[in-house]
Amino acid sequence: KSIQVSTTINGDPVEFLCTPDEPLLDVLRNRLGLTGAKEGCGTGDCGACSVTVNGRLVCSCLVLGVEAEGAQIETIEGMAQGETLHPLQRHFIEKAALQCGVCTPGILVAAKSLLEKNASPTDEEVRYWLAGNLCRCTGYDKIIEAVQSAAA
Ligand code: FES
Ligand code: FES
Repeated sequence: KSIQVSTTINGDPVEFLCTPDEPLLDVLRNRLGLTGAKEGCGTGDCGACSVTVNGRLVCSCLVLGVEAEGAQIETIEGMAQGETLHPLQRHFIEKAALQCGVCTPGILVAAKSLLEKNASPTDEEVRYWLAGNLCRCTGYDKIIEAVQSAAA
């Protein structure tokens, strides 16, 4: 049986129906057309599905859609303001901090969450914070550089 959920996504009120066992990631991608969050593993290991729920960074594959009731959710789709990219997005492009791009939405959401808590992180702090976000392409150094450039 489907359950009606009322939530806020990227500042907009949103209502959707989902089954009680349906992951938030599936709701975002399949019911709401927000395909920025990716399913890399579906088991909380890769971070490609990262979003924030009430300001807290989570793997949306591990959160149920019904847990979105009354919550404030931010996804990668809310990061740019219209045509204006977020500084993190700009620096990821400028530093070539992405290749296939599958990890990128999750890493951007995670990095934004870090910079909101710590505006001047050390390299070690960036690496520690992003330890749950796997990238099979870049070797990470450019990602760290891009986050640091955006923070500067
Ligand atoms: Fe959620 Fe990998 S898809 S952590
Ligand atoms: Fe391909 Fe990170 S750019 S997984």
